Amino acid sequence: MDSQQITHYEPPPGSLQDRVILITGAGAGIGRALAKASAGLGATVILLGRTVSHLESVYDEICAAGGHMPAIFPLDLERAVGADYDRLSAAIEEQWGRLDGLVNNAGILGARTPIEHHDVAQWQRVLHVNLTAPFILCRCLLPLLLKSKDASVIFTSSGVGRRGKAYWGAYAVSKFGVEGLNQVLADELAGKAGIRVNAVNPGATRTAMRAEAYPAEDPARLKTPEEILGPYLYLLGPDGRGTTGQSIDAQ
Ligand SMILES: NC(=O)c1ccc[n+]([C@@H]2O[C@H](COP(=O)([O-])OP(=O)(O)OC[C@H]3O[C@@H](n4cnc5c(N)ncnc54)[C@H](OP(=O)(O)O)[C@@H]3O)[C@@H](O)[C@H]2O)c1
Repeated sequence: MDSQQITHYEPPPGSLQDRVILITGAGAGIGRALAKASAGLGATVILLGRTVSHLESVYDEICAAGGHMPAIFPLDLERAVGADYDRLSAAIEEQWGRLDGLVNNAGILGARTPIEHHDVAQWQRVLHVNLTAPFILCRCLLPLLLKSKDASVIFTSSGVGRRGKAYWGAYAVSKFGVEGLNQVLADELAGKAGIRVNAVNPGATRTAMRAEAYPAEDPARLKTPEEILGPYLYLLGPDGRGTTGQSIDAQ
């Protein structure tokens, strides 16, 4: 499939049947839409996020729509420690014995400010949530992903992670790091048939993060999260098998 086809991909019904997929930042924005769409295609989704009430409302919507009962794993990626990650992998191991998909979607914007004035603590927070936490999740969940016959890891990139822009500070640098992590991990796993590793750049999407970055913009002119899910669903499902090491634009 070429990149245009992946961007406009429409998954066949049931294409994620019986797959176990962990989505970070599943309580809002793109992660929320992806969790609901994945459940609608038959997946069991593990909803990981910071705000329990957000995760519970996604849980309720998935159940009301007749999807497989999801799992909720509240975790603040800014504060999580080794024992939290151990608890996560142990819970997945015990319940399913494998993981078929890991979507590293949670992210924060941080301050849009010149490097000269960038707050150091905030720099570290953004780098930690956007880049280091996905690394830790991959590191601790890889054994479970490798137990799947057909696993998919997705990182979330951004346009400013490919071409740096003034005042995008830690956020842009974190996304450059995500692109690097994607390439390194994909290369390391290239010889393994049962796992693929890719990044998706959602492009401008109508979410709280986008509104924070562009407060003067009319959100009605932007695609909704539901409208940009094609590449995610392609990479998570059987049609994405064999695609690895790519960084794909959702728009
Ligand atoms: N929207 C765009 O235009 C756009 C463009 C390019 C890239 N992206 C990327 O797409 C991804 C999703 O962004 P979005 O626009 O959907 O953002 P969003 O609406 O702000 O949602 C972000 C999600 O991440 C979660 N999160 C933030 N910090 C967390 C933490 N410390 N621990 C756990 N979860 C945390 C939030 O949890 P809560 O439920 O607690 O808020 C929320 O569910 C991000 O990686 C972003 O960089 C977005």
